[in-house]
Amino acid sequence: MTRFLDPNKNDIEESNEEISLRPLTLDDYVGQSELKNNLRIFIGAAKKRNEVLDHILVYGPPGLGKTTLAYVVANEMGGKIKVVNGPSIEKPGDLASILSTIQPGDVLFIDEIHRIPRVVEEILYGAMEDFQLTIMVGKDDDARSISIDLAPFTLFGATTKPGSLSSPLRDRFGIVSRLDYYSDEELTAIVQRTSRVFQTPISEKAAEMVAVRSRGTPRIANRIYRRVRDFANYQDEKEINSNLTKEALKLLKIDDLGLDDVDTRYIRTLIKRFNGGPVGLETLASTIGEEINNLEEVYEPYLLKLGLINKTPRGRVATEKAYSHFKIDLFEKE
Ligand SMILES: Nc1ncnc2c1ncn2[C@@H]1O[C@H](COP(=O)(O)OP(=O)(O)O)[C@@H](O)[C@H]1O
Ligand SMILES: [Mg+2]
Repeated sequence: MTRFLDPNKNDIEESNEEISLRPLTLDDYVGQSELKNNLRIFIGAAKKRNEVLDHILVYGPPGLGKTTLAYVVANEMGGKIKVVNGPSIEKPGDLASILSTIQPGDVLFIDEIHRIPRVVEEILYGAMEDFQLTIMVGKDDDARSISIDLAPFTLFGATTKPGSLSSPLRDRFGIVSRLDYYSDEELTAIVQRTSRVFQTPISEKAAEMVAVRSRGTPRIANRIYRRVRDFANYQDEKEINSNLTKEALKLLKIDDLGLDDVDTRYIRTLIKRFNGGPVGLETLASTIGEEINNLEEVYEPYLLKLGLINKTPRGRVATEKAYSHFKIDLFEKE
């Protein structure tokens, strides 16, 4: 249960359902209105000029819709999408064989693009700039470079760690955008959309209830919706109402702010063990037995957004809001 709200985790059942849940057009893609408006203009202009769309880099926490957006862009451009994972492109030859299957106007989606090896990254530059692939063949005295012309394509890169991207690579993207956490209203709309796809209606109040506990993240909203739907099906309820949702959330151990077991241990330890901080992330992570990276990339961004913690040069600090949310007196000791 502790991993229930971790947007990184994704089982097979969920992956299959995610595909059926993906919006296919910009109109159907909820929220992120600034980025969507820009994309509409860039896509419209590229189509009018009969050119391919500029390369796009999208970054942000897991589950916010990066992969979904790549599919939407390919669909709106009328091209196909080729999906690869950064770490799976091990050598220049791997990239060459991927790029050789690309048709004019296709989208090459590289997920976790910060994890492609340096040698691959270097030949990607030419592919992005001039649609040319220059690779070395032969050995020693025989070594020479050959250039291959590629079909014009759009590279869509996604990453959860934009800071790990080298600047030469980042600079080659014409469009760079961050995905933001979704508002409660947007998540409510996503839950309602999901309920239409799954044909199990949910009351507006229940949808809102799911939304506010989804950590601003569509993947989590859909996941909670599915578990609540299980509940409704089990109890032979035709519509998911708020009472049923309340019960389900209690069983799932998701609190009013959408905090789960890991968040709770994080904050309680910070307050009780370390007097509210400041304490270094490493110390905190080892005390609660969680991975540093996972805390930093998955849990902390949301705790920061809620204003429950602050990051200071000397370490993590619990805010007053954290004390009051967990009903811990400022002067209470372990
Ligand atoms: N803007 C959106 N509108 C509607 N559903 C969305 C949106 N963004 C994400 N989703 C849903 O959330 C799920 C996770 O999105 P995904 O694109 O896989 O996230 P990421 O690639 O950023 O980890 C998808 O199944 C999709 O249905
Ligand atoms: Mg993804």
